[in-house]
Amino acid sequence: MSYPSPIAIDGPAAAGKGTLAKKLGKHLNFASLDTGALYRGVALLVLQAENNPTDPQKSLEAAQKLNIDAIDHTAIRSAEVGQAAADVAVHQDVRTCILELQRNFAASPPAGKDGAILDGRDIGTFVCPDAPVKLFVTASPEIRAHRRWLELSVTDPALKEADILAAVIARDKKDMERAIAPLRPAEDAHLLDTSDLGIENAFEAALKLITSIGS
Ligand code: DC
Repeated sequence: MSYPSPIAIDGPAAAGKGTLAKKLGKHLNFASLDTGALYRGVALLVLQAENNPTDPQKSLEAAQKLNIDAIDHTAIRSAEVGQAAADVAVHQDVRTCILELQRNFAASPPAGKDGAILDGRDIGTFVCPDAPVKLFVTASPEIRAHRRWLELSVTDPALKEADILAAVIARDKKDMERAIAPLRPAEDAHLLDTSDLGIENAFEAALKLITSIGS
């Protein structure tokens, strides 16, 4: 059986889309691209250069320098980089720079892979509007904050869940209200609410949908 490609997965922070994308990628032999990591990579470069992520020109310079294979996947996970990523993501020139990387990945997944899965905020609406499978993965802000807290408190035990919840709500607002490519489900996206679903159940539901579209 061949599966439809690319698969677009969008949704707010910590909804479980990254975990789902990786699991589906492994199962389908698809390459998965966490597009949030690209914006986080840009944000980290901006912060390391002691520039302000709200500065469009400095953010663009960082985006032009981004080497997808050299992203520090530990450093980009901090809450500070997450907030800065939401700031760099509002700049049109940064998005244009990142857009090409994403579309190339979708059109030509790495050798040996049968397709591509991209997860982010605007994959189904803008990066890959013709994707044959689009999922919009959500969960309540409280559940998402709890998941983020479980993840981050391993390295930062002083972190308060209430502060993470406030940050999650602030980031949702920034992602949904920005003028360019705001976070919203594509009209033809299938909604998957993971508030009460474990990863296995979310995976099964997504796989069922993909299989029904495959040939
Ligand atoms: O999914 P994440 O938390 O790693 O994403 C970090 C930020 O990147 C998020 O606040 C918005 C931005 N982003 C985006 O604008 N478009 C994408 N396709 C992916 C992420």
